[in-house]
Amino acid sequence: MRRKVIAGNWKMNNDLNGAINLISGIKQEVAVKKFDAKLIICPPFTSLETAHELLKGSNIGLGAQNMYFEESGAFTGEISASMLKSVGCEYVILGHSERRTIFGETDEIINKKIKKALLAGLKPIFCVGETLDEREAGAAFDVVKRQVKNGLVDVSADEMASVIIAYEPVWAIGTGKVATPAQAQEVHAFIRAELTSLFGEKVAEETVIQYGGSVKPENAGELLGQKDIDGALVGGACLKADSFIGIAVNAG
Ligand code: 13P
Repeated sequence: MRRKVIAGNWKMNNDLNGAINLISGIKQEVAVKKFDAKLIICPPFTSLETAHELLKGSNIGLGAQNMYFEESGAFTGEISASMLKSVGCEYVILGHSERRTIFGETDEIINKKIKKALLAGLKPIFCVGETLDEREAGAAFDVVKRQVKNGLVDVSADEMASVIIAYEPVWAIGTGKVATPAQAQEVHAFIRAELTSLFGEKVAEETVIQYGGSVKPENAGELLGQKDIDGALVGGACLKADSFIGIAVNAG
């Protein structure tokens, strides 16, 4: 059985004080609520080091929201994998649709980042998902297949043990329009089939595939009850401790 993994993508929210408050709230909720899911939080870069200190002794994982694929050098404004490691990150979100659409990241760039993260010992949370136009044009499966395939070029079956995939239909992100459990399950099963053809059945069976897009405590149970939905990548609802932990509680 794959363990459910609930990751909070804080996006560009919370300064250092806000981060300290939210982490303290999450720790209080964790102390009193019962759940089996693994938790990961992904605050902005500026709070990672403090978050790492605050999370010591807990089982909550720490991730960043992005990184660059070069080791070091003249890349103004960028952050390397080893920098993230040095402040205690274990995970890094890569290929988020906001990076793809607002910042022009291509499959090729995302693939370079995934390979660099793995080489540095970081675990990528690799996001894929179609836009509304692509879904309406009947291209959702083709788009997701292309993103999965191109993002994982030259990644080995062994390295896949460190990769989480997040299916986030772009039309469901921050819109309140959640994919139906059947819609999400259909794409998750398709991604798992794609992983079987790329890496074999064992890797496909063991890979955690999260759903992301307007996940809340109220819809988490039904979504995460689907056979191939192994967790959630949460945006808006992870900014409040009770709703973030409410998702974990309802995850089953
Ligand atoms: P929302 O949960 O706010 O829809 O965001 C999802 C997301 O983009 C997580 O990475």
